[in-house]
Amino acid sequence: MSNLFVANWKMNMVRPQARAYAQELASEIGDGVEGAELVVAPPFTALDAARDPRERWSIAGQNVSEHAAGAFTGEVSAMMLADAGCRYAIVGHSERRTLFGEDRQMLARKLARCREALVLPIYCVGETKAERDRGLTTAVLAAQVETLADDPPNDPLVVAYEPVWAIGTGLAATPADAASAAACLRALLFSRSHVRILYGGSVNSGNAAELLVAGGVDGFLVGGASLDATTFAAIARAR
Ligand code: PGA
Repeated sequence: MSNLFVANWKMNMVRPQARAYAQELASEIGDGVEGAELVVAPPFTALDAARDPRERWSIAGQNVSEHAAGAFTGEVSAMMLADAGCRYAIVGHSERRTLFGEDRQMLARKLARCREALVLPIYCVGETKAERDRGLTTAVLAAQVETLADDPPNDPLVVAYEPVWAIGTGLAATPADAASAAACLRALLFSRSHVRILYGGSVNSGNAAELLVAGGVDGFLVGGASLDATTFAAIARAR
């Protein structure tokens, strides 16, 4: 399986910016990056503008409703994401967990809605600084992986290890930290057939190669550094 590189734009970029980004990314990668699968996760309003007609990258929702359809003003369903052309949806990003109170029951429902709509979940996990300082990293990851208990074990799954203390701080995990979390997640998910483990948290073009190789991960979920197409392309080329 190729490595996976996901650009999480968060709440940035209006459509003209998304179109310019798509053009720049296209010219950066030419026919694509060998051995790498690229995904762009724009805001819902820019999904269409960020799409590549040549499909050198796919698009993803940054979030998805726990409900399938109905009177849920402001929500976007997994089916709608599929209809908009999304191959993936990010589920359980730490910003959703902490700022929007998404708990494990809700996240389990979101995973189920993704499966019904044939949208692949990118499920995010990761410990806070306080949890890490108390030696709880493994326990936190194990509890967060529990949310996958009802997720079909033979369906492809992407799990992004994103330590909360590394997100948007400029303080990335060390390759050794990433490697130990990735090993822990692989052990927890041993019974699944197709799992890719990503690292996320202050990835940039300078630390990507080392994190990828020494971190033993299958790619990255990139926030801030992904807002620049040239930088994102450089990260996807990291070896
Ligand atoms: P960052 O964000 O790369 O800006 O740290 C990562 C993420 O939140 O997915």
